[in-house]
Amino acid sequence: MADESSATPFGRYPTTRLRRNRHSDWSRRLVAEASLSVDDLIWPVFICEGAGAGEPIDSMPGVVRYSLDRLVERVAAARDLGIPAVALFPATDPAKKSPTGDEATNPDNLICRAVRAVKKSVDGIGILCDVALDPYTSHGHDGLLEDGVILNDETIEVLCRQAIVQAAAGCDVIAPSDMMDGRVGAIRRALDEAGYTHVQIMAYAAKYASAFYGPFRDAVGSAANLGQGDKRTYQMNPANSDEALREVALDIAEGADMVMVKPGLPYLDIVSRVATTFAVPTFAYQVSGEYAMLAGAAERGWLDRERVVLEGLLAFKRAGAAGVLTYFAVEAARLLHDRA
Ligand code: PBG
Repeated sequence: MADESSATPFGRYPTTRLRRNRHSDWSRRLVAEASLSVDDLIWPVFICEGAGAGEPIDSMPGVVRYSLDRLVERVAAARDLGIPAVALFPATDPAKKSPTGDEATNPDNLICRAVRAVKKSVDGIGILCDVALDPYTSHGHDGLLEDGVILNDETIEVLCRQAIVQAAAGCDVIAPSDMMDGRVGAIRRALDEAGYTHVQIMAYAAKYASAFYGPFRDAVGSAANLGQGDKRTYQMNPANSDEALREVALDIAEGADMVMVKPGLPYLDIVSRVATTFAVPTFAYQVSGEYAMLAGAAERGWLDRERVVLEGLLAFKRAGAAGVLTYFAVEAARLLHDRA
């Protein structure tokens, strides 16, 4: 019998030695609680007009905007690596932006052409499309703007039409990222009435008004449109956590098939609460600013890129995420294959 005096709050020392399970690689693998696989990855990809293009994005070193010909090749390569889905984001020609974002509902806009091009030549990979007006509005907001106010219900009417043109192009998963109240239910009804009952909805359910989206706005070219504006009247206050549960509960009740928390690592507490509370497929978006931090530090030799990429993605799985949208998806998939 161990001596009572050796009892600690964590067990008996030295009878309990937690280092025993860590002493060798096989043992660490055997007792691992969470694991990261290529099946957990969704790759967000920026697209642009033209041909043969891979335009660099200064604030996201290593990430480029692809023209549709290159996009098709890259998506096929992602599929070959086993990545289950891509999320496409258009950099819209500034001449096509307007206060009401009409280009969003044009069935021949860049995103719809991209979806058709990928669907035509690449099988076995899902396509997500954002529903929100920010790539298309001259003011850079996700909704219709009137006297400085983002109109909720009027915006939803446009979002429903946007969802339908994307579904018609062949989009598999509609991802409303606008944060209007009630949009998931309205989009679900609109899709069903138009015959797209099989099209899934991944709701950006708890999306925060975050400064970590800065590089994304450079990538899609909405930063200049938004200027000094901010999205705090519709995206969530970073101070709030209970409110995230209310947002998620509403989106599930309205018909979301999957929910998302965004940004990712700075909001891991929210990912964990949502996953535990609702037990629905919960995704995290490791956003552009998170990419920039890691890629920027690695570029300077301050961090070991491969290790921080895999550790960061594993953290999402430990928190309870079903998967992660990450600009590192292709690189992580390669690393996971190399280590398998
Ligand atoms: C558009 C949208 C944004 C992101 C995804 N969809 C930007 C925003 O809301 O301003 C951000 C993604 C990222 O930063 O990687 N509504």
